[in-house]
Amino acid sequence: MEDIRKVIRQSKTLVGPFPPFNVEDTAEHPYDLFLEWFQVAIDNGVNEPHSMTLSTTDANGCPDARVLIIKDVDQHGWYFASSSESEKGKQIENNPHVAMTFYWSEIGRQVRIRGKAVKMDQEVCTQDFLKRGTVARAIALLGKQSTVMNRQQEADEAVRNQMAILQQQPNLVYPSWTLYRTVAEEVEFWQAQEDRNHIRLKYFSEKDHWLKRLLWA
Ligand SMILES: Cc1cc2nc3c(=O)[nH]c(=O)nc-3n(C[C@H](O)[C@H](O)[C@H](O)COP(=O)(O)O)c2cc1C
Repeated sequence: MEDIRKVIRQSKTLVGPFPPFNVEDTAEHPYDLFLEWFQVAIDNGVNEPHSMTLSTTDANGCPDARVLIIKDVDQHGWYFASSSESEKGKQIENNPHVAMTFYWSEIGRQVRIRGKAVKMDQEVCTQDFLKRGTVARAIALLGKQSTVMNRQQEADEAVRNQMAILQQQPNLVYPSWTLYRTVAEEVEFWQAQEDRNHIRLKYFSEKDHWLKRLLWA
């Protein structure tokens, strides 16, 4: 690329048009507003609206982040699944405080969730695992997520072998497969405006209700 700095500086962000966001008329529970926004994302053709960045911290307190999909959302929280033996799994074991970030560029919306990740019961994790596709199950059953591999070909061969085993034993379950629920403590809804006077609405979890506050952009 000729002049990367120039290319970056000329790249456009938050072009619009954006959907309206009436902060005077928002749900009492952030889950309900999330559902409304999720529907708007789908209606506007947002690519992979269920993808988000999950942030964790390692044993030294250093942040780590990666993209995951959410599996569900309800009044109790936002759900994602992974191996509890992966880096993120070990980090969550050590420090359950996580952040989840959704960005839907087509509609200029960001949702930030901070809270604690809680492991779901083994039976629920098993059911989630069994609903995954065959290749995804085969890869998980290798039990190697986030460990170092010598050559990419090793993975191809290992997955082929594991697929053959799965054909014989289709109900095999990887015991470390874990469905986590993020129990939110704070949820922020960020809406881009074409005039750049962006809107931020943040929910804070209080004892028995959610407190809503506008934030300066
Ligand atoms: C769109 C997308 C969706 C992903 N979904 C998942 C997922 O649901 N679970 C998962 O364990 N990894 C998922 N990954 C892979 C993770 O980003 C990551 O590479 C992997 O979980 C290992 O992370 P860790 O080493 O921090 O544990 C996804 C990646 C992308 C790009």
